[in-house]
Amino acid sequence: MINMVSVKLVNVIKRFGEVIAADHVNLNIKDGEFFTLLGPSGCGKTTTLRIIAGFYHPDNGSVFFDDEDVTNLQPEKRQTGMVFQNYALWPHMKVSENVAYGLKVRKISRNEIKERVTRILDLVQLQGMENRTPFQLSGGQQQRVALARALVIEPKVLLLDEPLSNLDAKLRLEMRREIIQIQKKLGITTIYVTHDQEEALSVSDRIAIQHHGSIQQVASPKEIYDRPKNAFIADFIGQCNFFPGTIEKVNKYVTVATDVEERLRTLKYDDVKIGDRVICVVRPENFSLNKPTKEFNVVECEITSVIFIGKSNRIYGKIGDMTVLAEIPTDVTVEPGERLSLYASIDETTVLPITS
Ligand SMILES: Nc1ncnc2c1ncn2[C@@H]1O[C@H](COP(=O)(O)OP(=O)(O)O)[C@@H](O)[C@H]1O
Ligand SMILES: [Mg+2]
Repeated sequence: MINMVSVKLVNVIKRFGEVIAADHVNLNIKDGEFFTLLGPSGCGKTTTLRIIAGFYHPDNGSVFFDDEDVTNLQPEKRQTGMVFQNYALWPHMKVSENVAYGLKVRKISRNEIKERVTRILDLVQLQGMENRTPFQLSGGQQQRVALARALVIEPKVLLLDEPLSNLDAKLRLEMRREIIQIQKKLGITTIYVTHDQEEALSVSDRIAIQHHGSIQQVASPKEIYDRPKNAFIADFIGQCNFFPGTIEKVNKYVTVATDVEERLRTLKYDDVKIGDRVICVVRPENFSLNKPTKEFNVVECEITSVIFIGKSNRIYGKIGDMTVLAEIPTDVTVEPGERLSLYASIDETTVLPITS
């Protein structure tokens, strides 16, 4: 039903006065991919999405749908369907009229409009709601109308700008699953914008991390989580322990003499050399109290507090003036004041350049 496209941004720049909202953005989004732009508020996600939709013209660079340069094409000629953060439904129109609007504008016949509206309302599970107006609907139902309105025109690309941010936590999870299901069913190229890292990790085929307008890393969720390219990403995607230090040796592993006088080894990276200042990163859940079977690093700390968080205990420890954070099983009894050895396998320890 839907003829999808790949989307390419080449060197796209967009300024608002002094602010560079999109800074040399290069992206290659594949046919049928669920692609997410993730970053903190104000990093340029909406701007980038609006450039793809054609609502903003970039100051520099080009946008391609497959091989077609659409940079100067009007939004309505691009065949994108957009869901806005606040849904932007027409309050005085019924659900069916909201959904039918884009088809009317395109001069589709009345019979076909009726048939397509019915089909799409089935898809988003809004059968029987045709005659309600938006304020007679819950937040989740309004969200579905916005999705139906975007999908009914059979767009080549579906653009979703923080579509779940106005919903409560439980509904957000439910709608998240539904959006994934609909996307997979239609196979439509989808560009999803969110500031919620957990949401991005759980819905996406690939994620682009944006910061101050520029794209920092594009990778699968697992790769972003396991191999963040810089300290900003590591910190943004879940909690991390950062050990600043200097590279002491590079062979099979990179050995870092950390400033807290622990030595940490990590897997070899291409672009580091002896003497470089770096940061070693270990996630709290990657520490264990038992020596891993693989080669490992060990960090010795003094426990300062133990906090029960349900699935595990969160341990805060001190090494010199640095605080380390570890998650350990709740059946292990440890007390503040005790010394503790924390182990992390070498392939769960990452080294990052310090400049970023
Ligand atoms: N129409 C506009 N006029 C002026 N500044 C804008 C406009 N739109 C966005 N900006 C600025 O550009 C930056 C990126 O904004 P935006 O793309 O909305 O970020 P995000 O969607 O990631 O929160 C912000 O600093 C924002 O204030
Ligand atoms: Mg935004």
